[in-house]
Amino acid sequence: MALKHIILPALLISAIAGIAQNKKSAYELKSPGGKNTINFELVNNTPTYAVKHGKTDVITPSAMGFVLKDENLTKNFEIADVKTTSHDDTWTQVWGEKKNIRNHYNELVVMLNSKDANKRKLEIQFRAFDDGVAFRYVYPEQGIRDSIFVVDEVTAFNLKEDGKAWSIPAYQENRYEYLYTASAVSKLGSVHTPMTVENKNTVISFHEANLVDWPSMVLEHTKGSNLKSDLVPWADGIKARYKGSFTSSWRTIQIGEKPGDLIDSYIILNLNEPNKLKDLSYIKPFKYLGIWWGMHISKYTFWEGEKQGATTKNAKEYIDFTAKEGFQHLLIEGWNKGWTPAWYENRMHMFSFTKSADNFDLDEVVKYGNKKNVHLIGYHETGSNIVNYLKEIDEGFALYKRLGIYDIKIGQVGSKLNMKEWHHGQFGVRYYRFVLEKAAEYGLAVNFHEPIKDTGERRTYPNMMAREGARGMEYNAWSEGNPPSHEAILPFTRMLAGPMDFTPGVIDVEEKKGFNNRRVHTTAAKQLSLYVVLYSPIQMLADLPENYEGQPEFQFLKDVPTDWEDTKIVNGEIGKYITTARKDRNSDDWYLGSLTNEEARTLDVSLSFLDPKAKYEAQIYADAPGTDENHNPGDVAVSKKNVTAKDKLTLKLPISGGTAIRFKKL
Ligand code: NOJ
Ligand code: CA
Repeated sequence: MALKHIILPALLISAIAGIAQNKKSAYELKSPGGKNTINFELVNNTPTYAVKHGKTDVITPSAMGFVLKDENLTKNFEIADVKTTSHDDTWTQVWGEKKNIRNHYNELVVMLNSKDANKRKLEIQFRAFDDGVAFRYVYPEQGIRDSIFVVDEVTAFNLKEDGKAWSIPAYQENRYEYLYTASAVSKLGSVHTPMTVENKNTVISFHEANLVDWPSMVLEHTKGSNLKSDLVPWADGIKARYKGSFTSSWRTIQIGEKPGDLIDSYIILNLNEPNKLKDLSYIKPFKYLGIWWGMHISKYTFWEGEKQGATTKNAKEYIDFTAKEGFQHLLIEGWNKGWTPAWYENRMHMFSFTKSADNFDLDEVVKYGNKKNVHLIGYHETGSNIVNYLKEIDEGFALYKRLGIYDIKIGQVGSKLNMKEWHHGQFGVRYYRFVLEKAAEYGLAVNFHEPIKDTGERRTYPNMMAREGARGMEYNAWSEGNPPSHEAILPFTRMLAGPMDFTPGVIDVEEKKGFNNRRVHTTAAKQLSLYVVLYSPIQMLADLPENYEGQPEFQFLKDVPTDWEDTKIVNGEIGKYITTARKDRNSDDWYLGSLTNEEARTLDVSLSFLDPKAKYEAQIYADAPGTDENHNPGDVAVSKKNVTAKDKLTLKLPISGGTAIRFKKL
C-alpha cells in the first residue's frame, strides 16, 4: 500500500508531462541527491545513453539495443512515450550484511517504436541512484507467435577515461575460478562481471542485477576504453531464446569516489524483487564444520576405501566435536555413491543422490546428529551432468526433507553443463533458478559451488544463502594457492555480487597434514579477519578439528556472527588492504577484520563506528610479534583492551597478515 502511495501520483504527473515531452529526442534523469545523471538520446533514430558522476563524464554516448535473428532493434526508432517516477522506501533483509536497506531512485522509462513496417516496440527502463545507475530492456508482448532469437546485444559502455580494470577472464575451462588481474581497460579481452575500474575521480563496478531468464553478460573490449555487452551464447551460437516477449537483466554501473563506496552500495539487491518465500523457518545463517578439507589435502578420500572421509564412524566423531565446541552444522562430502578417484575427469559422470556410500549410514548419522543438536548439511555434486541430476533431483530433495535436513551444497564441477553449455549462458541461468525454486519447495537453503554469478536473487529467494564463484580456500590445498593479494581484491570485485562460500579458517596455514609444498599464503590471524571481511551468511570453519583444538584464536571463530545489523568499510585500496567493521544483528557487539597483501603495513583505525555512548572490551587477535606469511604464520597474539568510539587503534599487519577484533559492549 505504502509503495502505491509513493508511486501513483508521480506516474500521473509524468503521464501528463510525457505528452509534452514526446517531441524531444533527449531526456535527462538525475539521481535523487543529484550525484549521478543519465542522458538518454535518440541520435539519428538510434538509442544512446551517457552517464555522469557530478560533472565528470563516466560513460560517453553509447549504443543500446539488440539484434534479433529476423529484426534489428538498434536503429530506426521513434519515441512513443516517456514516463518518469520516483521511489523511496526502506526494506529489511531476512539476513544480510546490513539489516535495513534504502531503495531510493528516480526512474525514466522510454518506450520506443520502430519506424519499420512491423512497428516493433522496445522499452528501456533507467534508474538513477546516488550510488550508481542501471537500465534494462523489455520487449513486450506484441503478437509474435514464433520463437524470438536474440543474436546480439549491442549495449556499449564507452568509458570516458581509460582506467585500471580488475577482472577475471571469461570463456575459460574453470568457470569463475581465476585470479583477478589488474590491467588497463584498453587492454582487456572478454571478462566476467563484476568488473571494477579505478580511474582519476571515480571507482566503477560493472555488473548486472536480477538475472532470471537471460544469458549472463560478459564485457568485451572493442576499441579504446570502450566495452560492449557480450551475452554468453548457447552451444548453437544463439544468445537467448524466448516465446512472445523478454526482459533483460539490469545492467548496473555502480559509481563511487573511493573503493569502499562500492561495497557500501546496495543497488544490486534493490533491483531485485522483494522476498517471494512465505516459509522462512528453515532459512538460518550459521557457521559450519565439515568432512571436507581432509579430502582436499588428501588426509581422506571422497571415495570408498581405506582413507574414506565420509564413514559413519568419522561422521560421529565430527558430530561430537561440532557439538562439544558449540556449533550446530556439519557438511559431509562423499556421503553418496558415485565418487571415484577420477570422477571430475569423466564425461557425464553419474552420481547417485539417494544411495549412501558403503560404510556410511545416512539415517544413523542424522539420528546421531539430532541427539547432539547438530544438523547435517546435504551435499549434491552433479559433476555438471545436469541430465542425471534433474532425473533424481526430486528424490534427492525428498530424502533430505524426510530426514529434516534444511541446507544443501550443490556443486557443478565441469567446464560445461552437460558437456555442452556454458555455466553462464541462458541454459545455466535457467538451470540454477530451477534448482533454487525447487529447493524452496522442499524447504532447503542453497549453497551453489561452480554457480552462476550472483545478481542479487537472495532478496527474492532468501534460501539462496551463498555460493562460490571465485577461487576459494580449496586452491590452497592442491594448487600453487591464492596469493596474499587475493583476499584484498575479492571484496572490491567478486564480493560486490553477493555472499561467497570462501570456506575460510584454515589456521594450520602450513598444512602439516597435507601435501608437501602446499600451504595457505596468509597468517592464521588473517584467516580470522576473513570472517568479517568476506561476507557470507554461512561461514565454514574449514580446518581439521584437531587443528582448532586448544588454539586460543578458536574463541574468535566461536564468537564471530554471520548475520549483521550494519557494515562499514573503514579503509581499503584494491589489492592492497581492507578494514571492515560490522555490527552483530543479535547483540550490541561490533567486529572488525583487517588484512593486507604481500606488503606489511600499519593502519590507524578510528573506532568512530562504535556507539558513542558505550564502552567496549576490544578482544584483539593479531599476528604475534615476528610473525608473517613465512615466519611462524600460525602464531596469533590475543590481547584485551577497553575502548570507546573516541579511540584509535594502530593495527600492525605483517606480510599477508591480518587482525580480527571483537568489540564486546560492557
Ligand atoms: C569443488 C567445490 O568447490 C568443493 O568445495 C568440493 O569439495 C569439490 N568440488 C568436490 O565436489
Ligand atoms: Ca570450486
